[in-house]
Amino acid sequence: MPIIAPSFLAANFLQLSEACEMVNQSEADWYHLDVMDGDFVPNISFGQPVVTALCKASKKLNDVHLMVQKPERYIQDFAKCGAHNITVHFEASTHLLRTIDAIHELGLQAGVALNPHTPVHQLLDIIHEVELVCVMSVNPGFGGQQFIPYTLQKVQMLKELILNTESKALIQVDGGVTLENAGGLVAAGADILVAGSSIFNASNPMATIAQFKQFGK
Ligand code: DX5
Ligand code: ZN
Repeated sequence: MPIIAPSFLAANFLQLSEACEMVNQSEADWYHLDVMDGDFVPNISFGQPVVTALCKASKKLNDVHLMVQKPERYIQDFAKCGAHNITVHFEASTHLLRTIDAIHELGLQAGVALNPHTPVHQLLDIIHEVELVCVMSVNPGFGGQQFIPYTLQKVQMLKELILNTESKALIQVDGGVTLENAGGLVAAGADILVAGSSIFNASNPMATIAQFKQFGK
């Protein structure tokens, strides 16, 4: 059964408390909170005040995805906001191991995210240090984009790397995840499905979350 992490980027920002209530009452496991800086990615989403408010309302695990340059500058801030996991981009942190150590020192779980163009084998020397690898299945920056088909193979390659190295990292897939492609992703090895528009734009978001939970059963 996959971990389901609704991405609040797709929620109605005028009704965030309703979105929190829906996710709290649903079978979803995590809040996925996308922080974008307008530099690493072209878009700006929300920052510490909004993340703090969402974490306060959350009855789930808070998964913060930092799409920012030099994320090491913000680790402490987002830990204070109430994050349980912090994921940083492989492409955004020059001294990635130091950044991951800083996340662990604050008692949090650390994740590393790969843009679609970054090969999975680049993780060889860091795979033992992280609890989570996020395979970006769209070019990060916006919700509601189309899933990039070849990223399914990246999930398979990552699963192989994890098995071969006896790493305990979980595989997260983020971007364009729908009820149509989720089954294939779970079969390929995905442990965590992030879904924004396919949940929040659904006519019944709670039922959609329940459907996502059924994959791989
Ligand atoms: C993309 C973000 C995703 C995004 C997913 O840059 O990291 O988490 O919100 O949204 P959907 O599911 O709509 O592609
Ligand atoms: Zn994300």
